Amino acid sequence: MTGSAPAARPGQQTGGTRGAEPPGCILAIETSCDDTCAAVVTVDGELLSNRIASQGLLHARYGGVVPEVASRRHLEVIDAVTADALEAAGITLADVDTVAVTRGPGLIGALLVGVSSAKALAAARGLPLVPVDHLHGHVVSATLGPDPIEPPYLCLVASGGHTFLGRVEDPAHYTVLGETLDDAAGEAFDKGARLLGLGYPGGPALDRLARTGDAQAFRFPRSAGAERRRADLAASFQRAIVDALVVRVRQAIAREQVERLAIGGGVAANSELRQAMGDLCDELGVRLWVPPPELCTDNAAMIAAAARFTPALPYPEYLNLDATARLA
Ligand code: KG4
Ligand code: ZN
Repeated sequence: MTGSAPAARPGQQTGGTRGAEPPGCILAIETSCDDTCAAVVTVDGELLSNRIASQGLLHARYGGVVPEVASRRHLEVIDAVTADALEAAGITLADVDTVAVTRGPGLIGALLVGVSSAKALAAARGLPLVPVDHLHGHVVSATLGPDPIEPPYLCLVASGGHTFLGRVEDPAHYTVLGETLDDAAGEAFDKGARLLGLGYPGGPALDRLARTGDAQAFRFPRSAGAERRRADLAASFQRAIVDALVVRVRQAIAREQVERLAIGGGVAANSELRQAMGDLCDELGVRLWVPPPELCTDNAAMIAAAARFTPALPYPEYLNLDATARLA
């Protein structure tokens, strides 16, 4: 389990606000795939805790996420992860003002664990519940923290299930400018990693191996020499994916006339992509927001971030809210 260090109670450490009401707290839950996540964010966007129980190792022997295994594991750990997030934020359930949860898209059984758990937590206290689009979370990750991105901005989301470029005029919405017609970038990383014998999840392992390889060694697509030159293959393969994303982002920046870019999704944790987007934005005079890796891969902090810009359902309106594997 990884996450942020314990934080002080909101409003506790700021001078001059003694006696003032601390800002409200959003408790967010995310279980769309194979990470069980809970986070606490203030309504002002301050990140108080971000806990992630990764199931990666549980699925490694199958070479990918097994939906039923994921759901069962979420069920086993969701209460502990939620308690951990509250403790790390220095609050209790009594201090929570709003509960937010990923409604979709994702694995339906996995989503249902988070949605049921969030409904129960909210309903027991008559709190409002905010159903959140997982991809909206990736789009607004860069609005968290001390230097939040402001619209208008472009966002490249590259995750295991989706790769698209979005435009944000108002953080409550995003417009998809274009999306991949075949594999999402993360899926490509995972498949490439599997061919290289790097196991699952493969993206981070391929990222590491590529650092010692020559990215010019192979021209993709083609196949050769997997045993002898694994690092070169990893580096060349990664370069092909990163180059494809850079080309699209360059075109979109030229066309959209926007001066701010954010990146999000698991692949935004990739070291070469982070470097390449930095170089591109330097060249074009665009300001880039790169969230820390733990806010790029799936997490509940981004779900809280999106909840700040999404209408809440009052109790008891959400009692028959359903998870949805696909969102319109
Ligand atoms: O956003 P995410 O955690 O989950 C989805 O919403 O899909 O993205 C997961 C994807 C996986 O395919 C994983 O291999 C990839 O992000 N990934 C990476 C890196 N870290 C995670 N790919 C390349 N380099 C990384 N460092
Ligand atoms: Zn995701």
